[in-house]
Amino acid sequence: IKGAPVDTRSGKMLADRYRIVTPHPATPTAVADTVGDVVRHFGWKGPVGCAMPAVVQQGRLRTAANISKRWLGVNAVERFRAATRCAVTVINDADAAGYAEMHFGAGRGKTGLVIMVTLGTGIGTALFINGHLVPNTELGHIEIDGREAEKRAAESVRIEKGLSWKKWAKRVDTYLLALHRYFWPDLFIIGGGASKKQERFLPRLTVPTPVVPAKL
Ligand code: BGC
Repeated sequence: IKGAPVDTRSGKMLADRYRIVTPHPATPTAVADTVGDVVRHFGWKGPVGCAMPAVVQQGRLRTAANISKRWLGVNAVERFRAATRCAVTVINDADAAGYAEMHFGAGRGKTGLVIMVTLGTGIGTALFINGHLVPNTELGHIEIDGREAEKRAAESVRIEKGLSWKKWAKRVDTYLLALHRYFWPDLFIIGGGASKKQERFLPRLTVPTPVVPAKL
């Protein structure tokens, strides 16, 4: 669980991020307490934006693919507000990453349909049409050959299964080709841990859509 103060006009972080290992089990109470610790670390009293790996509707978590099922139906805004005593906004993590890229990173000034894909523990997606976010797309869960995409092509799968970059790039390519067939986006932005090692897999992709690594 990581946090940092950010200048929302420039997108720049105002201090090094502060990170606390996620409590296990990551129940709503344990996570909210940790979020409170992160915010207190900076002595922060202003608004707080939280990104969660789940569908978030009116502050409530609606899915829990890679987090404790105890989160289902919980109002994260209320929990984090109580823990931080700050005004809180909660959105999906990939939507937050995409929003940042569209404003300050690889998607700046890009029109048409842009899909941000985060390859991490799972696969997150954010869809933008002329810069406007269509929230809560869960395209990491589409099925390819009867298997959930994130179970084949997330970065965690590359690490856990010890896949070569070549093999993993092929899986990512298959995934992006599927999205290409259904959505015909103008641009893919790839984020997540592997975006730092983009030279290992981006050149291997055959998908006709332009693909760029996330900048943030
Ligand atoms: C979740 C998404 C999330 C993504 C990346 C998926 O398993 O369903 O909500 O954006 O992981 O964390």
